[in-house]
Amino acid sequence: DTLDPSSLRTPIVAVLGHVDHGKTSLLDKIRGSAVIEGEAGAITQHIGATAVPLDVISSIAGDLVDPDDFDLPGLLFIDTPGHHSFTTLRSRGGALADIAILVVDVNDGFQPQTLEALDILKRSQTPFIVAANKIDTVPGWNPNEDSPINATYDAQSDRVSSRLDESLYEIIGNLSDEGFSADLYWRVQNFQRNVGVVPVSAMTGEGVPDLLAVMMGLSQRYMKEEMEIDVQGPGVGTVLEVKEEKGFGTTIDTVLYDGTIRADDEIVVGGQNDPIVTEVRALLQPRPLAEIRTESRFEKVEEVSAAAGIKVAAPDLADAMAGAPVRIVRDRDLEGVRTEVEAE
Ligand code: GTP
Ligand code: MG
Repeated sequence: DTLDPSSLRTPIVAVLGHVDHGKTSLLDKIRGSAVIEGEAGAITQHIGATAVPLDVISSIAGDLVDPDDFDLPGLLFIDTPGHHSFTTLRSRGGALADIAILVVDVNDGFQPQTLEALDILKRSQTPFIVAANKIDTVPGWNPNEDSPINATYDAQSDRVSSRLDESLYEIIGNLSDEGFSADLYWRVQNFQRNVGVVPVSAMTGEGVPDLLAVMMGLSQRYMKEEMEIDVQGPGVGTVLEVKEEKGFGTTIDTVLYDGTIRADDEIVVGGQNDPIVTEVRALLQPRPLAEIRTESRFEKVEEVSAAAGIKVAAPDLADAMAGAPVRIVRDRDLEGVRTEVEAE
């Protein structure tokens, strides 16, 4: 039986992996934008958030995703930095996630931050799939823009496809060494028990339809199991970044992972010293497919429900901290909420 789409929370998908393995490029391919061009030295230094609506997912995935089969409104992708100095941001991104994509460069294979990311996923028991990225760099590769993986496989010579297979089996072996039973995704029956490996290219878009189809399937199953998640109650979130916004003063870019936030809510935010108690002045929503880190045209909204990336403008946010909890008070006792924030 189908569920009311508004009753299923948007799943949070974290994108993790070693530096330069193509996390931001993969998201750029899905967004149809170019966030890496705006990054210093093409290194991601903050956690980002991008909402991708279901209709965009199904238009990219073509026959692989029929929107009528899904009750989810879309996916909220969390981009994380792969550079070794950002361990805290990676684990924060991993902890926010319902499910994850571990990006591994097929030629470079497992690297230190690949292992670190796996460790985060293991500890948080987050179901994930592996995107074996940059398949277009296999020598002799014959690219097929935006093609599903089986079609582009068929278009390769035997020598090229067996070279790719070798790299893929090496990744599968590495996963097995870390205690994960993994296989090429089309051989996996239960994605919560076994890790599916999806060959992709963020450059040519090959395999991206497959990646999205697997993510949607995994998300839908997972979110239905997590139905106790309250999508209508007072919201709970995490601060990604504290930023000045022209005309609004200090604002907090927030990932709301449960419940709702409204434009007139009283909120408690973790601060450098004591929790900050303040009232929302404006909720600024990035456009669909926009990365909250780089968005310049926000839409003022009255209410947002989880999961979402939202910029919150409110007085007294100067002492707010990235990574700090955000909780909406609404009809609850303020002291109780303040205690919850202090305890986090
Ligand atoms: P950090 O955020 O710093 O951890 O890196 P990242 O994982 O986000 O990697 P990013 O997307 O910035 O890509 C790193 C480099 O690899 C860029 O020069 C990309 O153009 C290139 N790249 C990413 N994906 C592909 C791919 O599928 N094929 C090819 N040929 N190049 C790619
Ligand atoms: Mg990046």
